Amino acid sequence: MPPPTSSTREIPDISTVPRHIAIIMDGNGRWAKNRFLPRVAGHKRGVETVRTAVKACMERGVEFLTLFAFSSENWRRPTDEVAFLMQLFITVLEQEVTKLHENGIRFKVIGDLSKFESKIIEFIRNGEALTAENTRFTLTIAANYGGRWDVMQAMRRLLAEHAHLAAGFEESDLMPYFALNYAPEPDLFIRTGGEKRISNFLLWQLAYTELYFTDTLWPDFDRRALDLAIQSYQQRERRFGRTSEQVQKSLSGNGGSELAAKRTA
Ligand code: IPE
Ligand code: IPE
Ligand code: MG
Repeated sequence: MPPPTSSTREIPDISTVPRHIAIIMDGNGRWAKNRFLPRVAGHKRGVETVRTAVKACMERGVEFLTLFAFSSENWRRPTDEVAFLMQLFITVLEQEVTKLHENGIRFKVIGDLSKFESKIIEFIRNGEALTAENTRFTLTIAANYGGRWDVMQAMRRLLAEHAHLAAGFEESDLMPYFALNYAPEPDLFIRTGGEKRISNFLLWQLAYTELYFTDTLWPDFDRRALDLAIQSYQQRERRFGRTSEQVQKSLSGNGGSELAAKRTA
């Protein structure tokens, strides 16, 4: 597979169905609170939504789904909620990885894994190894992930391996060191739960991503809600800095065949 391109260096190919969707799955706690349940009941229910979202994305022809499960700032939460989330992560890894593999899904985790207990790291590494050759669909879970951590770790690793680049390096030198180096930049970003912020998710990669915010709480985010997000995406004009006229011309320049081909793909 060719290395992913950078939307700030060249104009990426775009397709009618987003190739890569990145989601901040927010609102589990409020979903539970609305039902007079403990917050953690919302997290448990949120796992069901992940299953639905993976299936729906595969059916729609999406190739990469990246889900924000635990941010580098979520350690600030009450100890018992953090402990519950870690246990839930272990349970889900135990139960789901084989199923992902059976469905031809490549499983990846991005984030600073050093903070996790060794059992979790082992499950992650085994799951990634088992599914590494799958090409149909890539599910990435961002766990103890932070966009700033990602930029920092990428620079540190680049310079550790190529000390002479301390004098100056290019975007293309840095790109292979980002945690998400195997995926194209997200086409569509979705945040559920009503907040309109990025919360330190993929800071670098969202440069030209279409942003979609919905009040729907994550446990309620069903197929229909996903379709609404994709429909909103399909109405956007992705200009990447150009004028609308230039975009239209580039589409008609190839007889609209590029878009037409992708519509039927
Ligand atoms: C998102 O739901 C899940 C995680 C951050 C782990 P929240 O737990 O943030 O739910 P709200 O925002 O409090 O409703
Ligand atoms: C973002 O949600 C992180 C995840 C969904 C994993 P938060 O609920 O932690 O975000 P803030 O604190 O409202 O910005
Ligand atoms: Mg939240």
